[in-house]
Amino acid sequence: MTQTDQHSSPQPAAQAARYSRIIGTGSFLPPKRLSNHDLVAQLAADGIETSDEWIVERTGIRARHFAETGVTASELALPAARAAIEAAGISASEIDLIIVATSTPDMVFPSTACLLQHKLGIAGGAAFDVQAVCSGFVYALTVADSMIRTGAARKALVVGAEVFSRLLDFKDRTTCVLFGDGAGAVVLSASDTPGILATELHADGRHAGILCVPGSLHGGQVTGDPLLKMDGQAVFKLAVGVLDKVARSVLEKAGRSDADIDWLIPHQANIRIMHGTCKKLKLPLDKLIVTVDQHGNTSAASIPLALDAAVRDGRIKPGDTVMLEGVGGGFTWGAVLLDL
Ligand code: UT7
Repeated sequence: MTQTDQHSSPQPAAQAARYSRIIGTGSFLPPKRLSNHDLVAQLAADGIETSDEWIVERTGIRARHFAETGVTASELALPAARAAIEAAGISASEIDLIIVATSTPDMVFPSTACLLQHKLGIAGGAAFDVQAVCSGFVYALTVADSMIRTGAARKALVVGAEVFSRLLDFKDRTTCVLFGDGAGAVVLSASDTPGILATELHADGRHAGILCVPGSLHGGQVTGDPLLKMDGQAVFKLAVGVLDKVARSVLEKAGRSDADIDWLIPHQANIRIMHGTCKKLKLPLDKLIVTVDQHGNTSAASIPLALDAAVRDGRIKPGDTVMLEGVGGGFTWGAVLLDL
């Protein structure tokens, strides 16, 4: 397209960049923190038996944060987004794309991204949600990277924000001890130097039933069960298989090897899956970023929360090569390899 064509099109596209790059990260956890002991006591009061030992041994989780009643995903997303924008050293008005990955949106519509855009005091850029459950952040980052490289956007805010506590059945000990609430965000900018090196996304809807919230709205009523259902063992088996394969595939696309990975940030659901993934990539465990112990499984928020924690505590430094891997309901999975 010529310069003249660009100017005469009704919505002038930004100049296409060769690459996109993360220039800032941020995160936010709701203040209410429940240790395993707190949760065990709360569940015991309702006759549900579990223990700190079981939760730690089977999952690695020691604590999680729960949003207070009425607090929404966009409210968690806002401080995470502000922190990422501040770290990027830009003004919110420069953001021309917002993608929020969430399975717990504020409303059926409009999107949480539109609500976040308004809360940030900006308007006019594109804003939409991505629903890929625990793979949501990897999906959203891939979409934002593609839009930046085609010139559809120059500065994208990519957020994972969840209030999964809303979906939990506190009478089901096999799921309610696993999840938490939170938000993480990155600012992705057009760049002449490579940041995101390779991405890959997958889904297999045949496995929709192994992790789902089957309810829906109909005529002003919730029909079906609006609480989370999971066949943990089926999810576990699928996750272990797909994560190694997709990681190897993005490494190959990027022309890198497992030895080039400085940090591995898989979806934070279960420390046993995370250790397995790390070992299959022949990485020492000290290259694995772990927040599942303190956050539980925060679905789409887990990867950006872990990324921000490791950037802020100085482990992940500019120039480091980071592998992000998502897996979850759908069944969905994917990976992003990037240089920070
Ligand atoms: O975010 C998307 C990705 N999600 C995941 O990656 C989750 C993947 N799955 C998992 O992490 C694991 O499968 C779980 C942590 C969910 C479960 O661990 P598991 O080792 O697969 O346990 P299990 O389901 O085989 O259950 C073992 C036993 C059962 O008792 P019996 O039948 O052996 O007597 C359960 O009833 O543990 C029992 N159990 C519990 N006991 C105490 C299940 N939940 C609990 C609990 N406290 N909270």
